[in-house]
Amino acid sequence: MGFIDEINRRRTFGIVSHPDAGKTTLTEKLLLFGGAIQEAGAVKSNKIKKGATSDFMEIERQRGISVATSVLAFEYQGTKINILDTPGHKDFAEDTFRTLTAVDSVIVVIDVAKGVEEQTEKLVEVCRMRNIPMLVFINKLDREGKDAFELLDEVEQKLGLKVTPLSFPIGMGYDFKGIYNIWEKNINLFSGYSRKNIEETIEISDLSSSELDELIGATSADTLREELELVEGIYPKFDKDAYQAGTLQPVFFGSALNNFGVRELLDCFVKIAPTPRPKQSEERLIDPTEKNFTGFVFKIHANMDPKHRDRLAFIKIVSGEFKRNAPYLHVRHNKKLKFSSPNAFFAEKKEIVDISYPGDIVGLHDTGNFKIGDTLTEGESINFRGIPSFSPEHFRYINNADPMKSKQLFKGIDQLMDEGVAQLFTLEMNGRKVIGTVGALQYEVIQYRLEHEYGAKCTYENLNVHKACWVEAEDPKNEEFSEFKRVKAKFLAKDKQGQLVFLADSAFSLQMTQQKYPSVKLHFVSEFQ
Ligand code: G4P
Repeated sequence: MGFIDEINRRRTFGIVSHPDAGKTTLTEKLLLFGGAIQEAGAVKSNKIKKGATSDFMEIERQRGISVATSVLAFEYQGTKINILDTPGHKDFAEDTFRTLTAVDSVIVVIDVAKGVEEQTEKLVEVCRMRNIPMLVFINKLDREGKDAFELLDEVEQKLGLKVTPLSFPIGMGYDFKGIYNIWEKNINLFSGYSRKNIEETIEISDLSSSELDELIGATSADTLREELELVEGIYPKFDKDAYQAGTLQPVFFGSALNNFGVRELLDCFVKIAPTPRPKQSEERLIDPTEKNFTGFVFKIHANMDPKHRDRLAFIKIVSGEFKRNAPYLHVRHNKKLKFSSPNAFFAEKKEIVDISYPGDIVGLHDTGNFKIGDTLTEGESINFRGIPSFSPEHFRYINNADPMKSKQLFKGIDQLMDEGVAQLFTLEMNGRKVIGTVGALQYEVIQYRLEHEYGAKCTYENLNVHKACWVEAEDPKNEEFSEFKRVKAKFLAKDKQGQLVFLADSAFSLQMTQQKYPSVKLHFVSEFQ
């Protein structure tokens, strides 16, 4: 198979949802279809169970599982599918945002009873900003939930999407009879709560035929006819280009647990989902078909085994072929590196591979060379864009609790920040270090890992900060900027890249500061050039 064929047969995507909507269950069913796993229950949920949030062993277990499920690859009908795992827990949302920079499309899972939930809104917003093609799967149709039209409406309103259903449920909950597949024009009848894969697809070329009445009963058949007429009247026709451009989102209905509606989703997905997309670098747009290899680091994972201190850096291949033992340029360090044991990922294992293609993810063993966002190339000096940091939600001073171990503490903090576990700010006024995180859970992870991986001890002290804003001065030499720096000196810090950050202590003070110094722009995201 040629290089271009290899690219064209790859589909790299992520599944996003609010916790409990059914992401893990759907992932597992997709793997079953691909023959990548033999039985249900093989994919472990990587979510932190409720009530276990302060259990260190649980955190460690979670970290172990999330390495195992970081990338799940399998073959289906000649396509190579790479599912990138996205943590559902909101404390790890930043991790998910970063993973979204490495996907070519996304499947959004929504619970039919709960509808659009908070985490889904946030994640979809990020996908929308990046024009990532999205497909929606409405799950748990075996349960009572919202009316299909009401849900489609909610998806449009709350998520700002333009939808078109490609399947439609026949009944729901106790009365759930099956799915009409608009895409393939056939019916799949639900054969009960067996949780087995019983597929009974019946071709329906003419909806008005009495066959439909015989299959699902006259009342249901009439309702379905009316509903499908409505669908045709209200929603735009499916258009692959619009979907791939991120302006139209097809919707499927089903029940992941009962393996119902999943095959329809997957069969359509492999036909319509985009192949690896071009990616913008600061210098130019890089096309996957370019001969020279380029790629970037979107995730770093520390080794759980304390005897092996190395980390695994996850690289998304953007263009060219990645070859084992070939010298590649680490652009930020301007240094050539060779990798003798790049890992490729499969459903339940990782293996050393000689060659990987655009769309694939390789895991590289790293002893501290990489940080999130780093670019690798065959020699060209380019930098991929788009792994910004968002303002953290929680802020605490970090103190050294063992003066004999300050070197270890600094090294540990430095490496954990490069992994993207949290953000470090150094106060301008007194050099004190502040850790900012998306969720409170990260503080425990950091403390635990500093102690177990670096032999350092830390304590925290609360700091009242509402938001961190990256500062951009219209004119760094003007009087207003000097005054801002003088008056707000107590609230200024530098992030790890040396960018100036304003730590606003309340929404009110943030607003006042913006009014008083209009030429000083305050950004909630680190990347604004
Ligand atoms: P997540 O990864 O999005 O957090 O969700 P996950 O797949 O773990 O599913 C959350 C719960 O919803 C699980 O139940 C799962 O069995 C259930 N579920 C998933 N899909 C369906 C479906 O189509 N219908 C119904 N009725 N339930 C579904 P749990 O009790 O929390 O976990 P478990 O003990 O079953 O593993």
